[in-house]
Amino acid sequence: MNFKDYVTIVEDWPKEGIKFKDITTLMDNGPAFKAAVDEIVAYAKEKEVDVIVGPEARGFIVGCPVSYALEVGFAPVRKEGKLPRETIRVDYGLEYGSDVLTIHKDAIKPGQRVLFVDDLLATGGTVQATIDLVEQLGGNVVGCAFLIELSYLNGREKLQDYDILKLMEY
Ligand code: PRP
Repeated sequence: MNFKDYVTIVEDWPKEGIKFKDITTLMDNGPAFKAAVDEIVAYAKEKEVDVIVGPEARGFIVGCPVSYALEVGFAPVRKEGKLPRETIRVDYGLEYGSDVLTIHKDAIKPGQRVLFVDDLLATGGTVQATIDLVEQLGGNVVGCAFLIELSYLNGREKLQDYDILKLMEY
């Protein structure tokens, strides 16, 4: 399946000059969304993953069906102040300023094989920060799966030690 047929390019959103890749038109097509999730599920099976980790908000949309299909857990990574129990945190750089991501301290058990899932690899800041959290907890990141890689932003450079699956590239 050519997944790009289902992605809508929105010109000048959220600001001028950006060609936003809108995946909601992929998500609202049942067979296309299922086929995309199935590809990540097949990759996760190959990697023998124990748990899926995904960052809010679109990482939940893509990661949760993978977790369901594999009958493995899903560990949410969230912005600060959203998770109710004891968390660990990481500061990560944004284009302007910085932000914080958190995960529950008991979300990953030492030695677990972890698959990172998100909709988009852009600068790689989000995946890098999430890997930091997982590794602080003793998890072993065995792969990173994305619907889309924006290769011109070179996020892959931050992931040289990790295996990457992407279903589309722009
Ligand atoms: C987007 C996207 C990825 C991240 C990728 O999320 O869903 O998580 O950016 O960018 P990066 O590789 O440069 O880190 P966003 O921060 O917009 O959060 P949202 O999904 O909650 O809107």
